[in-house]
Amino acid sequence: MMTKVAASSARPADPCCLIIFGASGDLTHRLLVPALYNLAASGLLPDAFALIGVARSPSSSEAFRDDLAKSLPKFATRDIDERVVKKLLAYVRYVQGEPDDESTYAQIGQELACIERERSTNGNRLFYLATPPAGFAPIGCHLGQSGLAREQNGAWRRLVVEKPFGTDLASARALNQKLLGILKEDQIFRIDHYLGKETVQNILVLRFANGLFEPIWNRHHIEHVQITVAESLTVGRRGSYYDATGALRDMVPNHLFQLLSLIAMEPPSRFAADAVRAEKAQVLNAVQLQNDAEALRNSVRAQYQDGYVENRPVEAYRKTKDVNPQSTTETYVALRLLIDNWRWAGVPFYLRTGKALRAKQTEVAIKFRQAPIAMFRETPVERLAENFLVIGIQPNECIGLKFNAKIPGPSIAIGGVGMTFNYEDYFETPPSTGYETLIYDCMIGDAILFPRADGIEAGWSVVQPFLDAWRDAGAKGLAAYRAGSDGPAEADQLLARDGHHWRPIA
Ligand code: BG6
Repeated sequence: MMTKVAASSARPADPCCLIIFGASGDLTHRLLVPALYNLAASGLLPDAFALIGVARSPSSSEAFRDDLAKSLPKFATRDIDERVVKKLLAYVRYVQGEPDDESTYAQIGQELACIERERSTNGNRLFYLATPPAGFAPIGCHLGQSGLAREQNGAWRRLVVEKPFGTDLASARALNQKLLGILKEDQIFRIDHYLGKETVQNILVLRFANGLFEPIWNRHHIEHVQITVAESLTVGRRGSYYDATGALRDMVPNHLFQLLSLIAMEPPSRFAADAVRAEKAQVLNAVQLQNDAEALRNSVRAQYQDGYVENRPVEAYRKTKDVNPQSTTETYVALRLLIDNWRWAGVPFYLRTGKALRAKQTEVAIKFRQAPIAMFRETPVERLAENFLVIGIQPNECIGLKFNAKIPGPSIAIGGVGMTFNYEDYFETPPSTGYETLIYDCMIGDAILFPRADGIEAGWSVVQPFLDAWRDAGAKGLAAYRAGSDGPAEADQLLARDGHHWRPIA
């Protein structure tokens, strides 16, 4: 009988006031407040906590508090305990204002002065930009000019920036420059919600807390790596955002590159924010940059057509509301990347992500080289199982190893078998939004899970040649796939060229 391990106990976060810009939006209601609730329920929110919502729409502090209390049960991941809600929403204020208007910041300043007198939040302020990206730089500048984000008398002031962080290399650089002109790097927390996932955080532990994997984690033993972030969801109601963005910008420089860098980075000297982030940026900087022709040859972009996903009919992407009927925006992307360092030279990293695919499945699959099979000449190579280490990120949270075993019987026959570790068999974790650890880490000032400016720019540098090559190619080269399938045939050919094939999307 296995004993389950409960989540470890941590100290409550520092006293602070959380100021959410974009407070009337979806993110606040759907994720941030439920995550704060879970932190409060686990005893991780400080007693001295206050919340200021900032948004354009007219409202009052009472109405905002009622609105949060009403929407919480709808999005909560756990049963609601009214005592916890009361504690969480004990001190809520609302500031109505334009993000570009100085007077908004004067009002926020007044509320903060009042809170800091009455609530003992020690002057600690966490500014959270849950607004559309156009708001990031102007809000950052106003926070700087108004002095609200200036650290003094031992109080910390931090800024949380949601994605997308830029839309290309130039805009990401410009945003970093703006923010770093106002705040120090250690005050800026750039959110990538993939780093809030336990299974993603576990990649570092798997690699570096075990002596078992690291000696074979290199080009001598690994043949190739597949990173899959398949979604069964369609673009849905996000047509106007998505049509201007596409799968590459939406998913690759952020989520897929977080997975890639955790898998491929060198061991950091310490488990500390700067050491880890330096190695992650370093490996992204080692990804081979491609010229136009290489970028086209090593990428596949495609759009979904009519089909059925999980037995539901799905209309083609171009028929989606707010999507241009002639759109050439990709809803699927596959890339073949190489990393130019001694560990990975010559080992292809295949990345794919797309909407309206057969199933939701995020995994990293590491394919080991074939054993020299001289001993088993009788068994054709194709019949040997491939050695894969599969890290299931979601929805199957697991780690599995595929290898060969002797099929019982008088003769030597070989068959593929597997061993799997399922998180749920070992650990008891209450359902969460995925934002709990991230918000908590902002409150305690631990930046390990937050990409640094150099990491963000390294990611966009890799993506930029693809953006440029696709822009120049226009509709030429845009492939198609049936909704509910595993993706376009062209993506299979990308691997077939190297003699490899994708693992099926389950
Ligand atoms: C977001 C993207 O960042 O990540 C969405 O904008 C995508 O398009 C989502 O659906 C995927 O997140 P998850 O956690 O469901 O894999």
